[in-house]
Amino acid sequence: MDVLAGTTERFLAATAPEHTATQAEMAALADDSGFPIIGPEAGAVLRLLARLTDAGRVFEFGSGFGYSATWFLRGGADAVICTEFDEEEAKRGVQFAADGGYADSVAFEVGDAMEAIERYDGPFDIVLIDHQKERYADAYRTVLPKVRTGGVIVADNITRGPSDLDDLVAHFEDGAPLPDPEVDGKTRGIGEYVGTVRSDDAVETALLSVGSGLAVSTKVV
Ligand SMILES: C[S@@+](CC[C@H](N)C(=O)[O-])C[C@H]1O[C@@H](n2cnc3c(N)ncnc32)[C@H](O)[C@@H]1O
Repeated sequence: MDVLAGTTERFLAATAPEHTATQAEMAALADDSGFPIIGPEAGAVLRLLARLTDAGRVFEFGSGFGYSATWFLRGGADAVICTEFDEEEAKRGVQFAADGGYADSVAFEVGDAMEAIERYDGPFDIVLIDHQKERYADAYRTVLPKVRTGGVIVADNITRGPSDLDDLVAHFEDGAPLPDPEVDGKTRGIGEYVGTVRSDDAVETALLSVGSGLAVSTKVV
């Protein structure tokens, strides 16, 4: 935990669920290599959502070595389709799944998540969007028809990560324009995502300031 973290963040970190042995290994690898996993505080939300939706199938845009997937499985999900550009990360994910005894419940698609989703029919119970921030809104529009009514779409890095929160506040409070794509495409991508889900009657959305910030949307039509 960051020594400069606020009291609320320290409280959430101290009360987050314990890692399993495999998750602890993954978290250690993430620490050592600076890889951005979702962390146990947000992981607890993924686990809860899987439990509340009685999740069968989950699809992830951007899985790394499969840490976030383990939280869906801990919440009772039957199967998680993981997608990852980086072949080495995906290989680590396959190895972790074998070591952790859940290889039958995860599939790794190596390559562009936006292409992988085209190869899958719905329905999905939960979708996690955690890949390129510039493509969050596209991922949402592509996957929404494949999410069942009552299913959930979660997007990570809404309040922390590569985007500029001050710019997002200025946009949503005062209508300031989002940054140009060439200047700061990540902040623009997060702003467009939040704007898209807020204005879409097909979903109801809550932003949670946990971990790096989650946008949790449930499909209501
Ligand atoms: C934030 S990390 C994912 C972390 C993971 N969800 C977790 O919490 O354990 C984002 C990952 O998405 C991958 N990625 C980015 N864009 C992608 C794309 N279009 N298709 C597949 N993978 C992508 C990156 O290589 C990176 O490993």
